[in-house]
Amino acid sequence: MKETIIVTGGAGFIGSHVVRLLVNKYPHTRIINLDKLTYAGNLENLKDIEDRPNYSFIKADICDYERVKDIISSNGVTGIIHLAAESHVDRSILDPFTFAKTNVLGTLTLLQAAREYWEPQGWEGKRFYHISTDEVYGALELTRPEGVPGSGESGGGPYGDDFFTEETRYQPHSPYSAAKASSDHFVRAYHDTYGMPTLVTNCSNNYGPFQFPEKLIPLFINNIRHRKPLPVYGKGENVRDWLYVEDHARAIDLIFHEGKVGTTYNIGGFNEWKNIDLIKVLIKVTDRLLGRPEGEDEDLITYVTDRKGHDLRYAIDSTKLKEELGWEPSLQFEEGIEKTVRWYLDHQDWLDNVTSGDYLKYYENMYKGR
Ligand code: NAD
Ligand code: TYD
Repeated sequence: MKETIIVTGGAGFIGSHVVRLLVNKYPHTRIINLDKLTYAGNLENLKDIEDRPNYSFIKADICDYERVKDIISSNGVTGIIHLAAESHVDRSILDPFTFAKTNVLGTLTLLQAAREYWEPQGWEGKRFYHISTDEVYGALELTRPEGVPGSGESGGGPYGDDFFTEETRYQPHSPYSAAKASSDHFVRAYHDTYGMPTLVTNCSNNYGPFQFPEKLIPLFINNIRHRKPLPVYGKGENVRDWLYVEDHARAIDLIFHEGKVGTTYNIGGFNEWKNIDLIKVLIKVTDRLLGRPEGEDEDLITYVTDRKGHDLRYAIDSTKLKEELGWEPSLQFEEGIEKTVRWYLDHQDWLDNVTSGDYLKYYENMYKGR
C-alpha cells in the first residue's frame, strides 16, 4: 500500500463516516483511525469495516507528543485528516480548559509531530488536512425572521442577506469556537512558516447516524421516542445551517485529494433552519415513523434558559467549493431527516450504549435547575 492516512477522531460522529468512506473507496490505501475514545468516541460506529485489511485502530491521545510522533514515523504516514476534538458547545461553557488542551494543544502536537517526520523527507506527497467549523466566524444577524427554511442561495439566505465566506473575519464567541479558531491559525502558521502542505475546511452543523445524543437532533429524536421533555434554548429562534454527514465526508475526501494546499474551503448546504421549525419537523417525522398522530408530541417542547453567549445565526457560503471542485450536497433536507430519524429509531441499542455511565451523570447535572 503506497499511501497511509491517519484519521484522528475516527471513532466519533463525522470521523466514523470519513473512515468508512475512505476504507471502502481506497482498498490500497492504509487508513489508521487514531482516537482516544473519549465519551464521544465509539468503535461500534465502525463495526461494519473493522476487519478490512486496509483499516486499523490505534487508541492514542493527540496531546501525547512522543506517542503521536512514533505512530506517524513507524507507519510511514503520508497524510493526516484531523477531526479529533472536543466538539460540544455546552460542555465547552462548563469546562473550557479541556477544549483548549485537546483542540489547540492537540492540533499543535499533531502538526509538530508530522513536521518532524515529513520535513527531512521533503513535503512532496504529504498532506495535513484540518477539519474545522463555521462557528469560528462568529454569528450573523436575523434580518428576515420569517424566512423560508432551506431556500437560501448565494444571493442571500432565508433569514438574512449575508453568509460566512472564506474571507469572513474570525470572531469566535464560545470556548469551543475560540479553541477551534486557535487551532485553525496554528495549521495556517505551519503552512506559512514551514511550508507544510495544509488544508482547512469550515463546515456547518452536521446531522445523521452515529451523532452523540447530546447534540440537538439525536437528543430530541431519543426524547420524543421516550416522551421526555425537549429542552429548547431561549425562544428557539436561533438559526443553524444543516448538512447531512455523508455529504460532509464526501467533501472531505474530495478536498483531501484535490483541494489546493494552503487554502480554505467552506462546506455547507444552503440549508438554514430556525431551531423551533426544525424541532417541529423532527416531531412530525418521528411521530409518523412511530405510528403516532403527526405532531402529537409537540407538547414535549419545553423552553429553558438560553445557552450563554448563544450564537444567533450561522449560514455558510460554499460557492468556492462548488466552483473549484464541483461539490454539492446530494440529499434534500427532508430526505436526510427521514433517513436520520429512521436510523435512530432502528438503533435504540446504540443510543442506550452511548448514553449510559458518565454521560448520564453529566446530562443530569447539566439540566439541574433548568
Ligand atoms: P465527536 O465529538 O463526535 O467526535 C470527536 C472524536 O474525537 C471522538 O471519537 C473522540 O474520542 C475523539 N477525541 C477527542 N479528544 C481526543 C484526543 N485528545 N485524542 C484523540 N482523540 C480524541 O465530534 P464530531 O461532531 O464528529 O466532530 C469532528 C470534527 O469536526 C471536530 O473537529 C469538529 O470541530 C468538526 N466539526 C463538527 C461539526 C458538527 O456539526 N458535528 C461541524 C463542523 C465541524
Ligand atoms: P447543537 O446540536 O449543540 O450544535 P451547535 O451548538 O454546535 O450549533 O445545537 C444546535 C442548536 O440547537 C443550537 O442553536 C442550540 C440548540 N439546542 C437546544 O435548543 N436545545 C438543546 O438541548 C441542544 C443540545 C441544542
